[in-house]
Amino acid sequence: MKRGRQGHKPKSDLRERIEKAASEVEREPRGVRPGKRPPLRVFTSTLWEYPSQHYDSPNGNFQGSKDYTGATPSWVIWQLLQRYTRTGDTVVDPMCGSGTTLDVCTDLDRKGIGFDLAPTRPEITRADARELPLENESVDFAFVDPPYSTHVDYSDDPACIGKLDAGARAASEHEPEGARYYEAMEEVIAELHRVLRNRRYMGLYVSDSFRKEKGRKGGHFMPIGFELFAIMRDYFRPVDIISVVRHNQKLARGNWHKAAQEGNYFLRGFNYLFIMKKEDD
Ligand SMILES: C[S@@+](CC[C@H](N)C(=O)[O-])C[C@H]1O[C@@H](n2cnc3c(N)ncnc32)[C@H](O)[C@@H]1O
Repeated sequence: MKRGRQGHKPKSDLRERIEKAASEVEREPRGVRPGKRPPLRVFTSTLWEYPSQHYDSPNGNFQGSKDYTGATPSWVIWQLLQRYTRTGDTVVDPMCGSGTTLDVCTDLDRKGIGFDLAPTRPEITRADARELPLENESVDFAFVDPPYSTHVDYSDDPACIGKLDAGARAASEHEPEGARYYEAMEEVIAELHRVLRNRRYMGLYVSDSFRKEKGRKGGHFMPIGFELFAIMRDYFRPVDIISVVRHNQKLARGNWHKAAQEGNYFLRGFNYLFIMKKEDD
C-alpha cells in the first residue's frame, strides 16, 4: 500500500527534511568580524559560549595568531585571569604556542611568562613544560592548553607531547592505554604544582579525542579530559569544570555530519576547562 497521500510527504521524506533543516541551522555563519565582537563580560555559569576565537581588545592588541593551528580562544584565558588573578600577578603558560596567554596578560596588566618547545615569538622561551626554568612557588596563576594526543603536528621536536598517542595500545596488561602520553602530562601537571604559589589557581583546557579505526566498530574514543582531571586531583583541589562550546565552522560541514552518522560516532563539540587550586596546607 502506498503510504503517503497526495499532497502529504511520506514519513521517510519528513525525516530527511528535518535532518536537512537541522544541518542548515548549524551551518549559519557564527564568525563575528573584528571590531564588531560582543563586549567582554565575566561569565557566571559553567557553560561558556562565545561567537569568536578572539575578543576586541580595548588596547587594539590581537591575541595570539589567527594562523596558528590549535590556538586557545583568548576570551577563555581572559575569563580566568579576571577571576583568579590581580593586576601585577605573574602568570605562566608552559605550552604557549602562538602566545595568546601573553597577549591577554598585556591587556590585563599581568606579567606573562611563556614557554614552548617550539617558540613562535621572541617573548616565548624555549623549554620543556616538564622542566621549567622557574623557582618553586614563584607564579600566581598557570594556564595550559596541551596537545590532545596526536591531533596536531606542532613541531619536529621529539620531546613534543603531541607525538604521544593517548590511544596507544598498552604494551602489557599492567599498563593503561596511552600510558606515555599520560605519564608526560602528569610530569607537566607536577611541574605546574611546583612553580605555583600555595593557595593559587591554574586552568587546563582540553578536549577528548576520537579517531576512526579500521576493524574497530564505532572507532577509538580517548577520554583525555577525564584522565587528566583524575591526575590533577592528586596535586590540586578541583574548583570547577567548565564546558566551553566551540562554534567551529568545520563541524557544520555536510560531509562531516554524514560520516559521523554513518560511522556512528560523535564530532567533538566542546572542550573542558578544569579549574584547580593548590592547597598544600
Ligand atoms: C594547543 S597548543 C597551545 C596553544 C596556545 N595556548 C595558543 O593559544 O597558541 C600546544 C603547544 O604545546 C607545545 N608543546 C608540546 N609538547 C611540549 C613540551 N614538552 N614542552 C613545552 N611545550 C610543548 C606545542 O609546541 C604547542 O605549541
